[in-house]
Amino acid sequence: MRYFTSVNDIGPLDKAVKEALEVKQNRFAYSHLGRNRTLLMIFFNSSLRTRLSTQKAAMNLGMNVIVLDVNNGAWKLETERGVIMDGDCPEHLLEAVPVMGCYCDIIGVRSFARFENKEDDYNEKIINQFIKYSGRPVFSMEAATGHPLQAFADLITIEEYKTKARPKVVLTWAPHPRALPQAVPNSFAQWMNAAGYDFVITHPKGYELAPEFVGNAKVTYDQDEALRGADFVYAKNWSAYADPNYGQILSKDRAWTITTEKMALTDNAYFMHCLPVRRNMIVSDDVIESDRSLVIPEAANREISAEVVLKRMLESL
Ligand code: CP
Repeated sequence: MRYFTSVNDIGPLDKAVKEALEVKQNRFAYSHLGRNRTLLMIFFNSSLRTRLSTQKAAMNLGMNVIVLDVNNGAWKLETERGVIMDGDCPEHLLEAVPVMGCYCDIIGVRSFARFENKEDDYNEKIINQFIKYSGRPVFSMEAATGHPLQAFADLITIEEYKTKARPKVVLTWAPHPRALPQAVPNSFAQWMNAAGYDFVITHPKGYELAPEFVGNAKVTYDQDEALRGADFVYAKNWSAYADPNYGQILSKDRAWTITTEKMALTDNAYFMHCLPVRRNMIVSDDVIESDRSLVIPEAANREISAEVVLKRMLESL
């Protein structure tokens, strides 16, 4: 595997999940693969889980790890070609990226949507420059339009907890005080469609996701209808995708918060969220603390999804 930015890079999902469950049984079985290999993790945005789980996965594989927080201790980077660099950016991405490639074997990049230009975000302008100019295998640690390591961990978690071959999985929008990217719901939708589950997306009007991610999912504006009979409820906030409201908050309606009453509509569903989560905006305290909450197992599986991706990249070096 040379690049990992979407479900299309991982191959058959049943094989990937099988490999993940094997790695989980013995996460140090491939520690020889990373000997004398270096992972460079580049963060343009904050992280807790991705930073720790990916570093742990790399250490399980015997790799050395360098972490760079671009906005804390590195030169501020210009990303636009043709700009007269008389502002506050002393270095251009076009030099910085190949330089970074000199010091490592694999690069992970976290770079969120900037909401300045929808086309730039949906063309994945930042991570694609790493793919084009670093000369190294590159994987997404959440880019502008997707968070595949999270979706892979979510898939592993559902496979571990499901009691039906084809569970009903519901992705529901929930309120949040800040404008968030569509990366997590985009990837979750993409991976759930690929897994072939009974997959439903529910959100208020105006929060439609990009059609290429929605795929064949059922979409409804009626959250209660969506939740009925659900086996897994995946809550997440996202900002508007559709023009002219791209990147904007259209609603903070707390009637969409996942509560015990909402979960009572389901078939005793498990609750899922990628974290970090705003309690009593996205989900009530009692739901996230209940024995049906999978938020910690999901986070734990981030180590496993990252290890499978890094293992495959190391095997192809
Ligand atoms: N879920 C997730 O990616 O968490 P972080 O933003 O803390 O890495």
